[in-house]
Formats: sequence, structure tokens, C-alpha cells
Amino acid sequence: MESKRVQNLKNQAISSILEAESDKELEELRIAYLGRKGKISQLLKAIPSLNPSARKEMGQLVNDAKKAIEQALQTQISNVECRVSDLDKEWLDVTAPGKKPTIGHFHLVTEAIREITAIFEKIGFTRVSYPEIEWDWYAFEGLNMPKNHPARDEWETLYIDNLKQKKYGRALLTPHTSSGQLREMGKRKPPIRMLNIAKCYRRQSDISHAPMFYQFEGLVIDQNINLTHLKGTLNYFVKAYFGPNRKTRIRPFHFQFTEPSIEIDVSCGLCQGKGCRLCKQGWLELGGAGMVHPVVLKNGGVNSEKYTGFAFGFGVERVLMMKAGLKIDDLRLLYTNDLRFLKQS
Ligand code: DAH
Repeated sequence: MESKRVQNLKNQAISSILEAESDKELEELRIAYLGRKGKISQLLKAIPSLNPSARKEMGQLVNDAKKAIEQALQTQISNVECRVSDLDKEWLDVTAPGKKPTIGHFHLVTEAIREITAIFEKIGFTRVSYPEIEWDWYAFEGLNMPKNHPARDEWETLYIDNLKQKKYGRALLTPHTSSGQLREMGKRKPPIRMLNIAKCYRRQSDISHAPMFYQFEGLVIDQNINLTHLKGTLNYFVKAYFGPNRKTRIRPFHFQFTEPSIEIDVSCGLCQGKGCRLCKQGWLELGGAGMVHPVVLKNGGVNSEKYTGFAFGFGVERVLMMKAGLKIDDLRLLYTNDLRFLKQS
């Protein structure tokens, strides 16, 4: 009879434990059964007063019931915990502000190329591209720099072994985009408004030079083109790319493929032309330009009696750095693909 009572108590305890839905309920049940004054504890306390023959059996029964109840409590405690953390996972505060996904961007140089292209397209230039592996004739000879001409030294050129043609000379990695001038003249009749943006290569690698870099080259050929058109175009570009407050100045210079030749400076964006660490007395050098030399027009098959033209060639990395007023310690950082650097823009 007694053993039946213990059995019932155990079953009752276990079923209420397994129905419990919170820590609080479980704690109450633990106290009710296993607490100091709980039902199981009371049964245990009563054992010594039983007659000796019943003691052992009763002791066993009550201890088994105690263990079973403890186990049920453990099981249900972890069930309740799981349910709570499931709820946690599904919980969604629809009023919380959204998390912005991180949005990537093009490489800084690609961004600059796209911007430069858009600026020149607005005034009728067409973007073209010509071979990176080029013949001497397009890069030098046709640009009025005969073999052994000292001006060639400035373009520390990478030549390709054992590759030459009788008419066009040795193969090389194009050291400037000016080679595209003759390519363009060979392909199209004037009027020409070309924007050639390409990789260029030179034997140079230091903190302000990378062996591979980009240039953009403009070429305009038409009737009655003169220096004022060049100045107007450069002014337009400088204001559009660097901002309306930047000024342009031109200095006489010398290139074999232009006559007259000029170099262009842009007022420094950091000190507004006053003079600072970044610039030379308020000016930053943009690059070279000029009126296309009649010899170059002739080499390109253009009648220099009828047509004139202007050209300019600038470095993409250079304008990018001039725009940002960046003083990058080492220009080659642009090409080492370190995301810690590239992500900064
Ligand atoms: N090709 C020259 C260079 O790499 C830059 C240049 C100067 C381009 C004058 C031109 C020009 O079209 O007219 O330094």
C-alpha cells in the first residue's frame, strides 16, 4: 500500500514537471517535492520510524523516486531553456533601424577613369583603346623621334626581345598613350576627337612611380583648330574634374610631337594657390600638351595644309592624387590591392 503511494507521488511529480513551462514553475515544483519540507523529503524522514523489515524496501523506493524526479527536473529545465532561446532567435523588432549593407566600390583608378571619360564624352570625345604591345614606329619614330633621338631617353622603355618588323621597328610595351594618336589617324579621317585611356609601362619603380600606370590622351584634329581650343578644353576639364575654383596655367615646353608644346599646371586644392607642402608655390603639374606637329600629321596620313590639331596626355594616378589632395606615401599602394588602403575612399 505504501509503495503504491510512493509510485503515485513520483508519477504525479514527473507529469507536472514535464508540463511546466517556465523556470519559475520548475523551481516551485522542486521545492514542493525535493525541498527541505517537500513531499519526498518528508517520506525520507519517516523511514527510520518504520518497522525494520519495511525500512529497506521503502528506502529504496523513495530514493528511486527522488532520482527520477531530479532527472525529470533536469530534462525540463533544458527544454524550457531551448524554447526560450528559439524564441529569442525568431524575435524581430520591426521598429529597429535597419542595418546598412556595406556597399563596395570600384578601384580608385577605375573610378577616376570613368569620371574622366564622362567629362570628355560630354564635349564629343570618343573613348578608344589601342595595343599595349606596340611598335616603335607608333610610340617614337612616327611621333617625330627618329632612332637614337635623345628625347627617347625620357620614356625609359621596356622592349620585347626578338620581335621586330622592317617598317615599324622593335616591339615594346607602350610607354605613353601618344602612340594612340597615329593609330587613330590611321583608322579615322578628320574630324577626330579621341580619348585614349590605356595602361603604359616604363622601367621605373619608386615611391612616386609604378612600372605600370595609366594615361589619358586627347587628340582633336579638324580644320582651323588652334591653341585657344586646347586652352578652352583644358580649362573645361580642370573645372569639371577638380572643381570650379581651381585655376589653370600653361608654360612653354618642348615635345618632339607638338609645336608649340606646353605644360599645364593646376592651382593647388589644398592651399588654394598660396603655397604649401604639397605644391610648388601654389601650383601642381598636370602634364603635357600642344599643337600636333605637322610631321606627325603627315605620318598619320593627314593633310597638314588642310587640318591642324591639338593633343594632350596626362597620368590618371596623378590627376587622382591631385584631386584628392592625397599625399600617398607610396604611389604603388594603388596597385598592391591592400583592402585596408582601398576601402578608405
Ligand atoms: N606623351 C607625353 C608623356 O608621356 C605626354 C604628352 C605631352 C602627350 C604632350 C601629348 C602632348 O599628347 O601633346 O610624357
